[in-house]
Amino acid sequence: NKSDVLVIGSNMIDLISYINRMPVEGETVEAPDFQMGFGGKGANQAVAAARLGSKVSFISMVGNDAFGQQQLNNFKNNNIDTTGVGIGTKSSGAAPIFVDKSSDNRILIIKGANNELTPEILDKYVDLIKGTKIIVLQQEIPLETNYRAIDLANLYHVPVLLNPAPANKSLDINHVKKVDFFSPNETELATLTGMPTNNMDEIKKAAHHMIKLGVKNMLVTLGSKGVLWMNENNSQIIKALKVNAIDTTGAGDSFIGSFAHYYANGDDIPTAIKHANQYAAITVTRRGTQKSYPKADELSSLVK
Ligand code: RIB
Ligand code: NA
Repeated sequence: NKSDVLVIGSNMIDLISYINRMPVEGETVEAPDFQMGFGGKGANQAVAAARLGSKVSFISMVGNDAFGQQQLNNFKNNNIDTTGVGIGTKSSGAAPIFVDKSSDNRILIIKGANNELTPEILDKYVDLIKGTKIIVLQQEIPLETNYRAIDLANLYHVPVLLNPAPANKSLDINHVKKVDFFSPNETELATLTGMPTNNMDEIKKAAHHMIKLGVKNMLVTLGSKGVLWMNENNSQIIKALKVNAIDTTGAGDSFIGSFAHYYANGDDIPTAIKHANQYAAITVTRRGTQKSYPKADELSSLVK
């Protein structure tokens, strides 16, 4: 029972309010619409890869409440192997999200049980780590757990992708430099390197800095501009599709999860990025997080 993709990371219940504007302090404002759904960057990435047909395993902690059970059911409904999913003592992770009329979002996260995913837990699941084609990490669990995951991935020669979202200034570069794929957006890249990323020249310089430190591949996500792929021999921008965005929540995660799927299933890196760009573009044209992620059989009619 080897997997194609092993995701180690978070799960959250997304509480999405579609708003006209944010209230100011002391004010009550009516918003037109609300939707609850399954989210969390780790779970989102796992679901994207699974909907595309990858065999996906997930290591995560759900909360000790009704949402935790719903999360477990959701993973099973998406054919995700839940051997590595535990039930914590804290509440489930939750994310109040506000999507405005220009499709941009603001997200609050309450990590809850996600903080209980400790490095020691990974040692129980070495078999899941050894047997996979790519390991995918984000930053809604303790950083030390990601460090252990990177060390185990290196030990067993399994490629590892770190998506440093949300940005965390304490991220230790000595661990980042050991990853095969590092995929920040411009802001996260600036936070980590301390270098400016206001234009393409600056972004390339900051990405190159990470390559010199030892990162094998940089995949810098640039939103509607696409993705900058850089390694020792290459630097190219792989363009995104032009679409009419209505809700960008979880689009970054759909890129990461689908990239892992395509890469694990034999695409070379630029082809996997191109396909993942197409996948992510579809998700922004639909409301919701995981709700907006298409399955493999829907894709052919959606991508021209
Ligand atoms: O990246 C989007 C995700 O961030 C949401 O699903 C929310 O749960 C937060 O983790
Ligand atoms: Na969406």
